[in-house]
Order: sequence, then structure tokens, then C-alpha cells
Amino acid sequence: MAQKSLVIFLLVAIIKVTSIAEAQSPLGLVHVNGTLYCTPNGSSGANGNTTPVFPNAVVQVTCAAYVVANSPSNAATTTTGEYRVVLIPRPDATVASIVSNCRIFVPTPLSNCNPVLPSSAGLVSNLRFVRTVSISFSRVTYIVAAGFTVQT
Ligand SMILES: *[C@@H]1O[C@H](CO)[C@@H](O)[C@H](O)[C@H]1NC(C)=O
Ligand SMILES: *[C@@H]1O[C@H](CO)[C@@H](O)[C@H](O)[C@H]1NC(C)=O
Repeated sequence: MAQKSLVIFLLVAIIKVTSIAEAQSPLGLVHVNGTLYCTPNGSSGANGNTTPVFPNAVVQVTCAAYVVANSPSNAATTTTGEYRVVLIPRPDATVASIVSNCRIFVPTPLSNCNPVLPSSAGLVSNLRFVRTVSISFSRVTYIVAAGFTVQT
């Protein structure tokens, strides 16, 4: 009798572990990260690292289809202009489905970092896949903004 219940216990345990593994995307968590600059297009341009950054801006990733569990997802830029929006991909989401359905927005007007820049609109960009890395038992997929333009 004791053996039989051990077998049942093991079966249940195996089923649980399998379903947890299946519930997780092979992409792991998706990190959309980068640095936002205080320029008309949010990019650093020719001056590279000497370009002023855009601190305290809201950065939002929204997806047109149900490819991530937490869309829209917000973050803010740090005092050095860096941001990191973490997305939880749906179990069957692929890099291609996330890149084609999600975009990154900066709703905070550029005039917040420099009064000569537009106060009317924010920025928007498509996404670009960088790589998926394994970190011990988990994975992180890095995605970046392909290039911001003024949102019309
Ligand atoms: C995103 O974050 C990773 C890990 O911290 C870093 O290696 C990478 O350079 C960052 N990408 C950008 C564009 O800042
Ligand atoms: C973004 O703006 C900077 C400075 O205004 C410029 O040098 C750069 O070429 C622009 N980049 C893109 C992708 O439009």
C-alpha cells in the first residue's frame, strides 16, 4: 500500500513539474532596455556618450496581440537615462510575434528634458531582438528599441 501511494505521489510530482515547465516561455523574461537621450529622436546621434540623456521619462511597451501577459508595461528612465521594461511572454509567444506586435512608447514630452524640444508629442519605436541568454536555470531575452521617431 505504501508503495502504491509513493508511485501516485511521484506521478503527480512529475505531472506538476512538466506543466510548470510548459507554462514558461522558452524566451524566459523579456527585457526591453536601453538609454533614452534628450534629442528630437531620443537617440544619441553623432556626439555619442556626450549627448544629454532624458531622465524621469515614462517608457511603455504595448502589444497589439496577446503575446505578453503584462501589456501595457511601464518603466521610467533613471537619472542616467536608462530604462528596462520587463515583459512576461505568453507560453507560445515567439521573438517574431513579440517584435511584430509590440512597440515602445515614450509618452513624456521631450520638452521635459529640454524646453526647446516639442511639448506636444512623445516618441515611438519598433522593437529589435538582440539575443536570448541562459542564466543558471532561467533565461532572459534582450530586445531593444529599433529607433525612435516622434509619435504622430
Ligand atoms: C540591456 O541590458 C543588458 C544586461 O544588463 C546589457 O548587457 C545591454 O547592454 C543592455 N542593452 C542596452 C541597449 O542598453
Ligand atoms: C537622431 O538625432 C540626432 C541628433 O539630433 C542625429 O544626429 C541622428 O542622426 C538622428 N538619428 C536618427 C536615426 O534619425
